[in-house]
Amino acid sequence: MPDLQINQAPALPESSCPIVAIGAGGIVNDAHQPAYRKVGFETIGIFDLDQGKARATAEAFGIARVFASLEEAVASAPPDAVFDVAVPAKAILDILPALPDGAAVLIQKPLGDDWEQAKQIHALSHQKNLIAAVNFQMRYAPYVLAARDLIERGAIGELHDLEIRIKVNTPWHLWPFFETLPRVEILYHSVHYLDLIRSFFGEPQSIYAKTVKHPQMEKLASTRTNIIMDYGDTLRANITANHGHAYGLEHQESYVAWEGTEGAIKATIGLLLNYPKGEPDSFEYCLLAEGQDPVWESVPVEGSWFPDAFIGSMSSLMRYVEGSSDTLSTAVDDALKTMALVEAAHRSSDAGGVPVLI
Ligand SMILES: NC(=O)c1ccc[n+]([C@@H]2O[C@H](COP(=O)([O-])OP(=O)(O)OC[C@H]3O[C@@H](n4cnc5c(N)ncnc54)[C@H](O)[C@@H]3O)[C@@H](O)[C@H]2O)c1
Repeated sequence: MPDLQINQAPALPESSCPIVAIGAGGIVNDAHQPAYRKVGFETIGIFDLDQGKARATAEAFGIARVFASLEEAVASAPPDAVFDVAVPAKAILDILPALPDGAAVLIQKPLGDDWEQAKQIHALSHQKNLIAAVNFQMRYAPYVLAARDLIERGAIGELHDLEIRIKVNTPWHLWPFFETLPRVEILYHSVHYLDLIRSFFGEPQSIYAKTVKHPQMEKLASTRTNIIMDYGDTLRANITANHGHAYGLEHQESYVAWEGTEGAIKATIGLLLNYPKGEPDSFEYCLLAEGQDPVWESVPVEGSWFPDAFIGSMSSLMRYVEGSSDTLSTAVDDALKTMALVEAAHRSSDAGGVPVLI
């Protein structure tokens, strides 16, 4: 297929909704606002408990209003506003009760700090009839959209293997709050991969996992994880994440790989390599042709996970609100299933493996 056109861009809304931003922290400045600026989504006002951060973000991105309180933000929101909530997970339950019933809201992942909070956020969203989606935006990274396009067209045949392998040096000290949390790696990082695998394979029958500390990062609950998602005897889905590879870039790895009966795809997640500088993404695919040696084609990646994937998660919500799409792919109902996998992975890790007989 020499002239294969591969889609890497999300579907955009026909007309965008005004955004009211709650939270003006790192991810809002690094990804939310740069993404919205790229496609012209307007943020009409912002609120953060830290008013200095709200003012600085408003100034950096040309946001007209800084709200002095959550109540003021809600009262000032037009009826077609989308609330873009990007606060620490434990604060989500402080914010949702104040939103108008029936409001559209995009909630930053994870859906709470544990399974109990996830269930409470889910229940509250339903009680208030919120049109609530969770920002599991990796599904909209350009290389993931490209892979999905090829897979949905049947280019690699029947998808039967999905592997995510991360071996990088993550500077956890940039986020001191992690030292206070009982769950770190799976809840805050591998959760993206659990969600991504679900988006291709659906719900696994069960999960095997082991998450461990690093001897030089004793204050962090865990920074290295292996997860096997059990889809029966023919599909394989694996996540291996090692965030303590402090030995230079040479042997760092960061990729998603899909294998099918007629081809394979490999995408480099450049964002995580050499963090926070990052390295380029890559996207390669190989389509088997009878009688020929396998050949890998390389396609330039247009954009990256940060910020481009954040266009997709917001667009998906706006498209659902305006009625141009009848699916809300990361709705709270769906996100709760990803959180259930986080819970199952921790239970598996705590329970341990099968004892060796001798
Ligand atoms: N790829 C991703 O999806 C991704 C990446 C990074 C962070 N995150 C998530 O985004 C969330 C925020 O992360 P961050 O890195 O921006 O953190 P941060 O600490 O830089 O910012 C959080 C902000 O929320 C504000 N805040 C806290 N409680 C609030 C409340 N009740 N009302 C209004 N503002 C409040 C704080 O003042 C702070 O400015 C976290 O849950 C994190 O997991 C997601």
